[in-house]
Amino acid sequence: MARPTKAHIDLDALRHNYSLACQLAPGAQSIAVIKANAYGHGAIECGKALESMAPALAVACIEEAMELRSAGVNKPILLLEGPFSPEEISVAEQHNFWLMLSNQKQVDWIAEAQCQQPLTVWLKADSGMHRLGFQGEAFGRAYQQLRQLPHVHDEIVLASHFAAADEVDNGFTRQQIANFRDMIPDQSAPISLSNSAGVLAWQDSHGQWNRPGYMLYGNTPLDQQHSNAEPLQPVMQLVSEVIAIHQVPKGDSVGYGCSWTAERDSVIATVAIGYGDGYPRQAPSGTPVLINGQTAPLAGRVSMDMITVDVTDIGSVTIGDPVELWGRNVCVNQIAQLCGTIGYELLTRMPLRTPRIYS
Ligand SMILES: Cc1ncc(COP(=O)(O)O)c(C=O)c1O
Repeated sequence: MARPTKAHIDLDALRHNYSLACQLAPGAQSIAVIKANAYGHGAIECGKALESMAPALAVACIEEAMELRSAGVNKPILLLEGPFSPEEISVAEQHNFWLMLSNQKQVDWIAEAQCQQPLTVWLKADSGMHRLGFQGEAFGRAYQQLRQLPHVHDEIVLASHFAAADEVDNGFTRQQIANFRDMIPDQSAPISLSNSAGVLAWQDSHGQWNRPGYMLYGNTPLDQQHSNAEPLQPVMQLVSEVIAIHQVPKGDSVGYGCSWTAERDSVIATVAIGYGDGYPRQAPSGTPVLINGQTAPLAGRVSMDMITVDVTDIGSVTIGDPVELWGRNVCVNQIAQLCGTIGYELLTRMPLRTPRIYS
């Protein structure tokens, strides 16, 4: 008998969502972004599930890439933050890691590297987000410098990243696309701009290469409904079970800090999941929890290992009844919004304590 708290990971849904990203941008090659442990879903399992479909995978750093290689994932892996030291360049060469270069220091390390075979590099422009990337004419100069290096692959992908593509009515994305086009030093070079929001909502941003991440896990990054996002299938279902039922008389309080008080005689179900399992402590009373397929409101504070739910209105609930915290029925974006964050954070910070069950 094991604790019933689990994250079911549906790898067919992951593949379905990846296919959707490809269908929405038929002219692009879609790199599957699986950084941060595949947004909490398990990088090795997700990498293996996608490796036969995707031309390459992307992670943030070499440690994440090495974890995949050690597990036998053989596809090229793009390091989105590029090398953090010159030593990483020889490791990248050895393991076929592609390097996104965002500053002159990284370009100089490449220039000085002793390589036996050509390195694949991407070059990042700051088109308005002002976080990473070359600004203004420095972008073109870095490109020319790299083009002259015999140990750098001729084809250098020119990339940038969006600040607000999730906001469908925000014209800043159009501005970034225009800024980027003005910066391009070589019209024949392949480009890469689109994250998930770009793939879903900004067709103009589709390049020879796209970099979808969040959408692969089956949730939309967009701030409004969009027909392109409708076919997405949530990959993670966070589940647990009811482990206790308490009758709470009107006027009594529930949980830490006595923050929720019964306004009527109530039935409270205790569920074996808490912030130690990745369910956010910020979730306020009223947050929807699915018990036996019916929605009931969270009542009182989230503890480390448990939550309490007001099941007064959903008929008979007994110990052992199934609970979904998020998944196909309860949207992780909705829970995140109630907690003042985004689904990305809730998924990514899912702790190792919560077993991932793959199917
Ligand atoms: C450079 C870069 N490209 C692509 C992505 C994927 O973005 P998303 O998960 O919104 O699709 C990220 C994620 O933050 C990123 O940093």
